[in-house]
This record gives sequence, structure tokens and C-alpha cells, in this order.
Amino acid sequence: MSAEVPQGPRDALFVMPSHPTNTDFLAPSSSELLNIVTQFTIDLGAMTDLPTLGDRILQELCRAASATHGALFLLDREHECYRRVSMVGLIASTCTPPTLTMNHPLPHHLLATNRIMMDIDSTEDLQEIDSETGARAAMKAMQATQLVPHLIQGRLIAFSILGGAMSIAGDTVLTRSVLAALAQVSANALDTIVLNEDLRRSHTLIKRTDRLKSLETIAGGFAHEIRNPLTSIKTFIQLAPQRKDDPQFIQEFSKVVLDDVYRIERLIQEILDYARYMEPKLTDEDLNDIVASCLYFIDVKAGSHGIKIEKELAEDLPRVMLDRQQIKQVLLNLLLNAVDSMIGSGGRLRVQTCRLEKSRGNVFAHIEIEDSGTGIQEANLEHIFDPFFTTKHESGEHEGTGLGLTIVHQIIQEHHGEIRVKSSVGVGTTFFVDLPALPA
Ligand SMILES: Nc1ncnc2c1ncn2[C@@H]1O[C@H](COP(=O)(O)OP(=O)(O)O)[C@@H](O)[C@H]1O
Ligand SMILES: [Mg+2]
Repeated sequence: MSAEVPQGPRDALFVMPSHPTNTDFLAPSSSELLNIVTQFTIDLGAMTDLPTLGDRILQELCRAASATHGALFLLDREHECYRRVSMVGLIASTCTPPTLTMNHPLPHHLLATNRIMMDIDSTEDLQEIDSETGARAAMKAMQATQLVPHLIQGRLIAFSILGGAMSIAGDTVLTRSVLAALAQVSANALDTIVLNEDLRRSHTLIKRTDRLKSLETIAGGFAHEIRNPLTSIKTFIQLAPQRKDDPQFIQEFSKVVLDDVYRIERLIQEILDYARYMEPKLTDEDLNDIVASCLYFIDVKAGSHGIKIEKELAEDLPRVMLDRQQIKQVLLNLLLNAVDSMIGSGGRLRVQTCRLEKSRGNVFAHIEIEDSGTGIQEANLEHIFDPFFTTKHESGEHEGTGLGLTIVHQIIQEHHGEIRVKSSVGVGTTFFVDLPALPA
């Protein structure tokens, strides 16, 4: 036997629920078999990961078939093969290769017959099937005595090989029906897990495509945005040799050029923030904490412009799973926009948090950022989240890049949250952010 077969006392290595220890092994009684199926069906619903499910399927199949070892092969559609996803009991890994091709004798035979095969089966009733001989040889090579297909609407989504059956003293017809029932329940559970996995993968793909699409827009916008400052820099460089003795020209133009360079720098920084943006690293956080720390940052700036900050932070605010850095970026962008809208006039900046319960008992941590600034014109409201949309055109401290709210929107989406805005020209603007709460 192969050197890879674990040596030593059998029970120590045997991961299945323990069999009776007496050597005169008896197959499970019919009521035990019924129990196995019932309990298995109940338990399956709670299993969401493939390794646990695979092990459990094999354990139950082995128990029902009085087998000592088994391996489960799952269809890998992407790589067009059957992949071993689980192995239990005393079985040499050399006997069961990690992958089997689609036309390997075992799947080939199971697809032709759609039924359980046991080495004790008479060969006569299967003689018309060519694949029979190949399958028997393959089973022998894998030390298997039973071959169990897991089928969903005629598709062989997986199969199990079981081996080392102790002398079955029971009813093979009954064993076969129980194995068929277990195989079918297992097939359904495996199919669900595979479907969920596919769904998760396509979600990631959609998100990635969305990101690429918005990056495309951003790249286009970026090219457009830096054209003006680049033109002014170019003009300055072209004119400088002739005007080098004109101190007023040099002084004024240097300032303009420097502003343009700053603008390009800011754009690059914001684009990097967006492009570098990765899956949020979520941790369990108190949102009030983050709001307070952001308010602390803008306090001096607000004060110097005659803006009064009012904060109402709810004590019963639910905790949220969030990426602290990213949510800080969201809040700072919103707060700085609010401050910008009140520069020159002063005003009131109100920040409120509260617990919000929406339909079907979904709980959110809700934040409102309200200013008494200029407000947003109705025609602009639908564009404020677009990349490069800005009304802050004048150069200097307040010049905008128009990427702030694009980034805000992206981050809130990644957190499965929502952002809304209400604004009235001359009265002010309120942004509402909802982030899904952690279950209490
Ligand atoms: N609180 C606010 N009050 C008034 N206008 C706002 C407010 N927040 C956003 N806006 C409008 O939305 C535009 C886009 O905002 P943003 O994406 O942050 O870019 P930026 O601040 O660089 O202009 C702003 O230029 C402004 O016109
Ligand atoms: Mg902004």
C-alpha cells in the first residue's frame, strides 16, 4: 500500500462519527438510516462553506454505506474537470487524484447511467454499457467499493467514491435508496453553494466593471481639466525668454502658473485617492466618534469664517461596520463643502446623528449635515455627484476639483449605504447619509 496511507491506530485517524466498536459490524438499521437522512437534511441548511459541507456529506454517505473512507469530487466548470473537495477516513491521497478530467471513466460512467454503482453489483444487468469496465477498473484503483452520483436535473455536479465497506449484513436495496436520498439532498446543497459562489463572483466583477467605467470617465475628465492650466504654464514658458526683464509680468504670471501647478497637484491627489481606493476594511465602529473627530478638524476653519457648529449626537446610535479612514473622508468632504458654501456670509452648520429604522426592521445609523449656505441650484442637483462637476471655479483656496462628492458616493455605495441631498438656493443644503447598522 502507498506510503501516504496514515499508519497507526485506525480510530485516531478516523474523522467520521464513530462506528460501533465490536468487530462484528452491522449495517445501520432502517430506523437509523431514516434518522441519518432526516438529521442530515436539517443540518444542511446551516452549512454555508464548501469544506464543512463536503466533509459532512462524506461522513453521512460513509455511515449509511458502512464505508470507512470516501472522497467527494465537485464539478469545476471553469476548468472543465472534477475537483476533489473533500476526503474522509483512511484513504491514500495517491489513490484519489486532486482532479479528474470530464471524460475520466468514473464521471463518464455516472453520466451514462445516472445511478449508484456498487462493486457487488452484478455485471450482467449493466453489460450493455461500455463505460462499465473502465469504471470498475478506476474504482479498484481508487480503492472504492461504491460510486455515488450527485445529480441536478441530469447534470452530474459532483460524485462521491466510498470504500473499504465492512461486511454489509443489511439490505443493499435499502442502503441504495438511502444513499440515493442522501446523494440528492447533498446535490441540492452543493448546487446552492456553487450558485452563491458564482453570484458573489459576478457581483465582484460588476463592481470592478463599474469602477473601470467611472475611471474611464475620470480619465477623460482629468485630461480636460488639466488642459487649461497646462496651456497657461506653456504660454508662460514660451513668453518668459522675451519678457524676462519685465518684473511685473514675471511676478504676476509666476503666481498664476504656481496656482495652476497646485491645481494639477490637487487633481492628481484626488484621482489617486479614487483610483487607489480599495475594498473597505471594515471594523466595528462608533460613528459618533468619527463625526466628533471630523468636526474637531474643521472647527478652526469654520470659526474663522463666522460659522457656528451645532452637533446633536444620539446616544443610542447603533454601531456600524465601516472603514474608518474612508468614512472620515466622506464626512470631511461633506463638512468642507458645507463650510465652502458659507464662506463670506458665515452661518450655521448642524451635524446630527440618530438611529433610523426603515421598513422590514432594517436599522441604520443616520447622519445629517445641514448648512445655511448658498444652496444648490435645482439644475445642478442631479450633477453634483458627477466626476469633475464643480461650481468652485475661481482660483485660489476655494477652487474645486469636483471629485469630492464622486468619492463620497463611491464609498457610501461600497458600505451598502445611501446618500441623499435636499437643497434650496439661499436657504441651505442638507446631506443625509444612512449606513447599515450592526445587529444589536
Ligand atoms: N453643501 C453644499 N452647498 C452648496 N453647494 C454644494 C454643497 N455641497 C456640494 N455642492 C455643490 O456640488 C459641487 C460638487 O462638490 P464636490 O464634488 O465636493 O466638488 P468641489 O467641492 O471640488 O467643487 C460643488 O462645486 C458645489 O457646487
Ligand atoms: Mg468638495
